[in-house]
Amino acid sequence: MKTLVIGAGGREHALALSLSRDPHVTEVHAAPGNPGIAAFASVHDVDPMDGSAVADLAAGLGVDLVVVGPEAPLVAGVADAVRAAGIACFGPTAAAAQLEGSKAFAKQVMAAAEVPTAMAHVCETADEVIAALDAFGPPYVVKDDALAAGKGVVVTDDRQEAIDHAAQCGAVVIEEFLDGPEVSLFAITDGETVLPLQPAQDFKRAFDGDAGPNTGGMGAYTPLAWAPDDLVAEVSRRVLVPTIQEMARRGTPFQGLLYAGLALTQRGVKVIEFNARFGDPETQALLALLRTPLSALLHGAATGELGDVGLPHWAPESALTVVLAAANYPGTPSKGDEITGVDAANALDGVDVIHAGTAVVDGRLVTAGGRVLSITATGADLVEARERAYAGVALIEFDGAQHRSDIAQTAAEGTMDT
Ligand code: AMP
Ligand code: GLY
Repeated sequence: MKTLVIGAGGREHALALSLSRDPHVTEVHAAPGNPGIAAFASVHDVDPMDGSAVADLAAGLGVDLVVVGPEAPLVAGVADAVRAAGIACFGPTAAAAQLEGSKAFAKQVMAAAEVPTAMAHVCETADEVIAALDAFGPPYVVKDDALAAGKGVVVTDDRQEAIDHAAQCGAVVIEEFLDGPEVSLFAITDGETVLPLQPAQDFKRAFDGDAGPNTGGMGAYTPLAWAPDDLVAEVSRRVLVPTIQEMARRGTPFQGLLYAGLALTQRGVKVIEFNARFGDPETQALLALLRTPLSALLHGAATGELGDVGLPHWAPESALTVVLAAANYPGTPSKGDEITGVDAANALDGVDVIHAGTAVVDGRLVTAGGRVLSITATGADLVEARERAYAGVALIEFDGAQHRSDIAQTAAEGTMDT
């Protein structure tokens, strides 16, 4: 099978890497890709937001499957354009991607499907914002209704900060604070069959101890030894399947990856958010353990034949990824700083250095985004995976590099506060 991955981040590097190791895959292409992907696949300089350019590239290359990685092209209808050209495409239509593209839409779908989630008010005016904040009380949760690369959400005890954030957004969703550990549970679906992946955990805050602002994600690991045994079955029954059925009932079936961001609260599992694509960086950890050929899952979803594929198989190990971010991330990051040590880290046992925001300038690898690299490692258990990933982190340098030193620490020590 010939494949084309659309996007340029860590998630796309992980997807392309997994496809390149898949015995059923003969060619991996990426557009625009990144220097990490270019080391093993062909990269093409195409605007990922331009549906007809992506469809033309796919047709010209004669690929059997296009995988659209990030949310922005999905919401813009790039998967629709590829399918209109008669090429199998993994990723939802623009209409179905509204599950991520609008938090208010996601709330409507959850209400219709009776999916448990935080109580919420959609607010358009400053008066509505203040009324909603005071109705829920602190901690305040204020979410930009539109796409914001994981950075549109503010959770704070400071009422003025909540009001100020809302004022910077258009429509906002203000909701009840959900207390409890967070879990990312992904499902691959063709719109009917729903195949859950194993649960992962993401670390959203910028600094150790879950301090600092929300980011796109600073690290992740899988599986979750501390999670209840029936978590996947319960989330399938109460969240994933009803949501997929509701999307089909509306005439906008969802095909691709449904990402459920969950809080395990005292009052049961609740959805924090839906995304319409693989999570980043959870995907780096998950794909490191996936043993079912990725192409079978993605092609099965794209062609409506997922029922023939069966539940995914996993290596009985642990995987962990640690993000190395540029100075000032999640604010405007520093760019153009030279990166060293990537090859040495990549050569370590069980370690893959995944590129997220890098570029090659004058033959040197430099930083080119907020999240620069994610160092991914597998191990017999979480302790070993952590040691390997952090050994990789220690070898890589660039000016202002920052990372969290506590990814999966309490889980590895068995002291998770659940
Ligand atoms: P989102 O983009 O909706 O996933 O929000 C980003 C992060 O903000 C989540 O991963 C949570 O850590 C936090 N968050 C969002 N909504 C809530 C909520 N209702 N209660 C508590 N934390 C939340
Ligand atoms: N890791 C969080 C996200 O992909 O949205």
